[in-house]
Amino acid sequence: MMHTENDIAFIASLEYECFAEPWDAQTVRTVADDPDGICVYMQGTGYALGKLAADEAELYRIAVVPGRRGRGFGGLIIDRFISECAGRGASRVFLEVRSKNVRAISLYERKSFIRIGVRKGYYPDDDAVLYELEI
Ligand SMILES: CC(C)(COP(=O)(O)OP(=O)(O)OC[C@H]1O[C@@H](n2cnc3c(N)ncnc32)[C@H](O)[C@@H]1OP(=O)(O)O)[C@@H](O)C(=O)NCCC(=O)NCCS
Repeated sequence: MMHTENDIAFIASLEYECFAEPWDAQTVRTVADDPDGICVYMQGTGYALGKLAADEAELYRIAVVPGRRGRGFGGLIIDRFISECAGRGASRVFLEVRSKNVRAISLYERKSFIRIGVRKGYYPDDDAVLYELEI
């Protein structure tokens, strides 16, 4: 997908706002420029980043501007991410989320992702939960 330096800067600034270990602009650019990378964004609202490998896709990051959460934008962005994966030949999407991230988990379960495992102690302060969606 086409993206500009403005898009990259917007995504990187949201990374710093939303995550304890943010990706910098160079890391975001590397994923967005990768021919197998998936970069879906709504300027000023949010984004999702991931990657295709054969017929599988992985969602690495998704975030919505704090002041715009809880209004369905996360759902819209993940829908676009899934349809881009499907359009590019993926039949499954995987993701990993902190077990305490109830907002994100509620979003994934609403979108029919199935919990397929838990990595105990994956984060210093939390477990990681693995999800899969068949598309
Ligand atoms: C996860 C995230 C992308 C969701 O975006 P969003 O625009 O709020 O998503 P939506 O509005 O489509 O849906 C949010 C869900 O959380 C629920 N929710 C809203 N506020 C909540 C709260 N305070 N606590 C728990 N759930 C809440 C909503 O009701 C909705 O679930 P439901 O449809 O089952 O009721 C957003 O919260 C975010 O950017 N979080 C920080 C980054 C992050 O943690 N990303 C995921 C890990 S990579």
